[in-house]
Amino acid sequence: MRIFITGGTGLIGRRLCKALLAEGHELTVLSRNPASVPVKCGTGVHALASLAEWHPALSFDAVINLAGEPIVDKRWSAQRKQVLWDSRVTLTEELVRRIAAAEHRPSVLLSGSAVGYYGNRGDLMLDETADTGEGFAARLCKAWEDAARVAESAGVRVCLLRTAPVLSNDGGLLGKMLPAFRLGLGARLGDGKQWMSWVHIEDYAAMVLRLLHDGQTSGPYNMAAPNPVTNAEFTAALAAALHRPAFFVAPAPLLRLAMGERASLLLEGQRGLPGKMEAMRQRFAFPNLADALRDLIR
Ligand SMILES: NC(=O)c1ccc[n+]([C@@H]2O[C@H](COP(=O)([O-])OP(=O)(O)OC[C@H]3O[C@@H](n4cnc5c(N)ncnc54)[C@H](OP(=O)(O)O)[C@@H]3O)[C@@H](O)[C@H]2O)c1
Repeated sequence: MRIFITGGTGLIGRRLCKALLAEGHELTVLSRNPASVPVKCGTGVHALASLAEWHPALSFDAVINLAGEPIVDKRWSAQRKQVLWDSRVTLTEELVRRIAAAEHRPSVLLSGSAVGYYGNRGDLMLDETADTGEGFAARLCKAWEDAARVAESAGVRVCLLRTAPVLSNDGGLLGKMLPAFRLGLGARLGDGKQWMSWVHIEDYAAMVLRLLHDGQTSGPYNMAAPNPVTNAEFTAALAAALHRPAFFVAPAPLLRLAMGERASLLLEGQRGLPGKMEAMRQRFAFPNLADALRDLIR
């Protein structure tokens, strides 16, 4: 297949490129730094510097849409929120216009979202039938999904990747947490009762391939391992995997003061379950957190 990927140079995108190249597909990646594409995504991977370069005669069989400015790295000022919105929602709107205008339309669009779609829902178990929640992250995910779904009216199968924090040894959440935890400075966040879905990057890539190839799939998918944990459990599991203590607590008021509104990403959570994947009998190589961490921290 000829596959177009936005966000292909990112943490998830790089792993997906590897998996897709191994299956023999021809890849084109959107990147603001096209020269970096062969280095990050593999030699032979083509690059587009902007969506304007996707002219109607360029044909792709599938599109994977993962582009988005990092959500946790900077304070959510009004300006930053606009950047987060534009890099997901506005970009997806433009992408769907290109898909509809293509002479050969792709048959499938796999488009990004996050378990943050559900907002802060306490202990509630959330499969894909749960409603969207409140707050900026939930609104962003909802609008991102709505923009992708417009491609359905152009006859394209659309799958929405409600992604849980992806665990990888190449950056992402673990990349941020490991330095402090290695020093024995790991800390529970607030009361630690907030739920946290998570997924090993290998299982994530396998789920994406399944959705790409299975023409019966469409709509939202919780891209999460089947055993979410609380923040206190995650903290203890990561410390145990590193054979370090984690006695500390990062108090909620301090996090709110330091991070502003985006502290909600740390202090609130979702108990998201991969209901549709489990119904499809998708096999998880790492269903439990301790095994996933042991694999990644070797
Ligand atoms: N990783 C997770 O745990 C997780 C969890 C939930 C949801 N997600 C979502 O899944 C997507 C991929 O995650 P990731 O961890 O792989 O992200 P990442 O490593 O931060 O990579 C983001 C990608 O988006 C592209 N990008 C960023 N800003 C852009 C902009 N303004 N215009 C066009 N492209 C832009 C970057 O490409 P260039 O720099 O090459 O242009 C980069 O390849 C993100 O949208 C993220 O919100 C991730």
